[in-house]
Amino acid sequence: MKLAVVGGGSTYTPELIDGFARLRDTLPVTELVLVDPAADRLEKVGGLARRIFARLGHDGLITTTSDLDAAVEGADAVLLQLRVGGQAARQRDETWPLECGCVGQETTGAGGLAKALRTVPVVLDIAERVRRASPRAWIIDFTNPVGIVTRALLQAGHRAVGLCNVAIGFQRRFARLLDVTPDAVHLDHVGLNHLTWERGVRLGGPDGEDVLPRLLAGHGDSIAGDLRLPRALLDRLGVVPSYYLRYFYAHDEVVRELGTKPSRAAEVAAMERELLEMYDDPALDEKPELLARRGGAFYSEAAVDLAAALLGGSGPATQVVNTYNRGTLPFLPDDAVIETQAAVDPSGAVPLAVPELDPLFAGLVAGVTAYEDLALEAALRGGRERVFKALLAHPLVGQYALADGLTDRLIAHNREHLTWA
Ligand code: G6P
Ligand code: MN
Repeated sequence: MKLAVVGGGSTYTPELIDGFARLRDTLPVTELVLVDPAADRLEKVGGLARRIFARLGHDGLITTTSDLDAAVEGADAVLLQLRVGGQAARQRDETWPLECGCVGQETTGAGGLAKALRTVPVVLDIAERVRRASPRAWIIDFTNPVGIVTRALLQAGHRAVGLCNVAIGFQRRFARLLDVTPDAVHLDHVGLNHLTWERGVRLGGPDGEDVLPRLLAGHGDSIAGDLRLPRALLDRLGVVPSYYLRYFYAHDEVVRELGTKPSRAAEVAAMERELLEMYDDPALDEKPELLARRGGAFYSEAAVDLAAALLGGSGPATQVVNTYNRGTLPFLPDDAVIETQAAVDPSGAVPLAVPELDPLFAGLVAGVTAYEDLALEAALRGGRERVFKALLAHPLVGQYALADGLTDRLIAHNREHLTWA
């Protein structure tokens, strides 16, 4: 089995490698190609990747290259984990929206739109080249904003599934609190990427007992603490929102907070420098502790499960993925991309049926879906007016003067990445 990782020079890659090595019975990778344009990073990350495989006794071959076409030739699956413009672009996404009193975040709000505009054309070009070199390959997209990028891929007819680690993070966290194994925890997870709620936490599978009320009663304070939302809010909603909902439910509070501290991009850039230095040490042969301070916990396990299911191996019967709605949430278009539990096999991902969504959540989902639709239009076709309309439609923007101010800034800060600007 051959896998290619596009953006393989990412400092996150050792997390992925560690997962591939530990879970080799689930996903028997024989050849792994790390592809990245940044040769210096790639060499450091590739070196550590080989040492991790060697230490854990994995005899798969790991190669590194900047040649995308060669890397994906004959691949069974291609993982996309790239960041167009790097942490420098993220730093800008997290900063200029604050000048308008709006949240500065890499996937939510105006910063997320900037990221989508930079990323969609690049990902579509890569996907085209994957299709040419390996028409049956599955594309697993981690590249943010995952909802919009996955929709772009599916709309262009690619064999793609979008993936995020928020759900697996909750699954692992709840399993620890309940003192059960993670595979015993089934989440009633619903919404859009980075806009989800856990409506139930079931033991043993989709029909198991819902222990969410028990979980909230016993551990509500600690769960709310992780999310930095009031415990009382969780009790009132009766669900566990993802931490990205804080950008909506506590928008103004977050904006004030962000104004007083260095951006997450700056924090991450500092960590990356330290990580790359560590990776360069030939004595290091495991993923360093420092990596745990990044947001990507468990993403390797989610990737292994998804790739295994798509490639016909073992793996959980249902998984939380990003794919076409196809009537699952009847108030959304069939070709909207939602994040939900799905049955996954070599023919793809099919969402499981879900109970009706309370208007308390459905309104936001519908609003953000409309934004994502317009954002994708703007990413594919360009133009100031399309950017403006996407921002105007975003539930966190909504006012024309704000949308205009954000549009000007978005374009000014991203000109080098926007062919039409
Ligand atoms: C979580 C999200 C990812 C995001 C990451 C950011 O894992 O699901 O989509 O990329 O956090 O983490 P970072 O360490 O870069 O802030
Ligand atoms: Mn994510």
